[in-house]
Amino acid sequence: MAQRERDALTGRLTTGHEWDGIKELSTPIPTWWITTFLISIMVALIYLWLMPSFATTKSLEPGLLGWSSRGELREEQAIAAAAQAPWRQRLMAVPLEEVSKDEELRRFVQAGGRALFNENCAPCHGVGGGGQQGQFPALLDDDWLWGGKPADIIQTVRHGIRNTDEESRQSAMPVFGDSLSKEQIANVADYVLTLADKSKADSRAALPGATLFKDNCAGCHGENGEGGRDFGAPRLNDAIWLYGGSRDAIIHQITSPRMGSMPSFASRLNEESLRMLALYVHGLGGGE
Ligand code: HEC
Ligand code: HEC
Repeated sequence: MAQRERDALTGRLTTGHEWDGIKELSTPIPTWWITTFLISIMVALIYLWLMPSFATTKSLEPGLLGWSSRGELREEQAIAAAAQAPWRQRLMAVPLEEVSKDEELRRFVQAGGRALFNENCAPCHGVGGGGQQGQFPALLDDDWLWGGKPADIIQTVRHGIRNTDEESRQSAMPVFGDSLSKEQIANVADYVLTLADKSKADSRAALPGATLFKDNCAGCHGENGEGGRDFGAPRLNDAIWLYGGSRDAIIHQITSPRMGSMPSFASRLNEESLRMLALYVHGLGGGE
């Protein structure tokens, strides 16, 4: 039978438990600890009462304060929008070409355009508009498929390219895999490879691919491969390639052309945002 006794050294009672001569002291929990514990329970209860804490079948019980992170975000957005409103009005009031003359406005457009670009465009065109070889064109060079004036860029972004938007930019390079033989395709590819080379300007006309190019390609890509904006047909006489400038890549494109597609942003971006984006892209280095 356990026996409680007073410990001589500490003066406390033991619990009466004993293991091989070792006895357990009965030490009460300190008052400061109990007090803190009770206070934290109270704080927790008050918090539960004030803040949204309990899920109902529909959403969350809003709590006495009715706070929500979404509401807080909405408030912050409203404040930001109010602060930006005069700038946005100013942006809409001047013609696109004259925005850069107003230094303050230019800086606003630059910052806003960059943020919009990173959010909407960078996944494809890369942060800073560097593009991704073989898939998405770089937007910082002066090689434009559809045009590099701010108004052209707005049109491209608003409606996109080769998508279901009725006003999207449309065109299709024909599939030559069926109509031209393998040899003819190789010949025309060899001809395309000479277009950027000035030293071959005179000799290239004698190549077997020359007539093939004139008959099949020049209508879109231009007599000298200077490109055709009406068709979004890339320049072929420079060092910038959408899908790679190797012989293989060119043969691949002629045999079964890839048709790059870009979504329409008409429903996602308002007029001011489109302007900011277009001017940002225009300012990346290649604007016309
Ligand atoms: C899903 C990928 C994707 C997204 C997102 C995207 N683009 Fe594009 N974009 C493309 C592709 C692909 C092309 C090239 C289409 C072609 O071959 O004509 C292109 C072409 C363009 C062009 C035409 C370039 C030229 O040389 O004329 C511009 C300008 C452009 N994008 C701007 C933007 C902007 C600004 C955004 C963001 C609002 C954006 N893009 C978002 C895929 C995308
Ligand atoms: C109806 C117009 C049209 C015709 C005709 C046409 N192309 Fe194209 N070509 C295009 C378009 C549009 C693109 C861009 C496709 C895209 O954006 O995905 C393109 C892209 C290319 C590219 C890729 C360029 C790059 O920068 O990577 C090559 C190479 C090319 N064409 C060669 C030819 C050759 C060679 C012929 C003739 C045998 C030809 N094309 C005929 C419209 C045309």
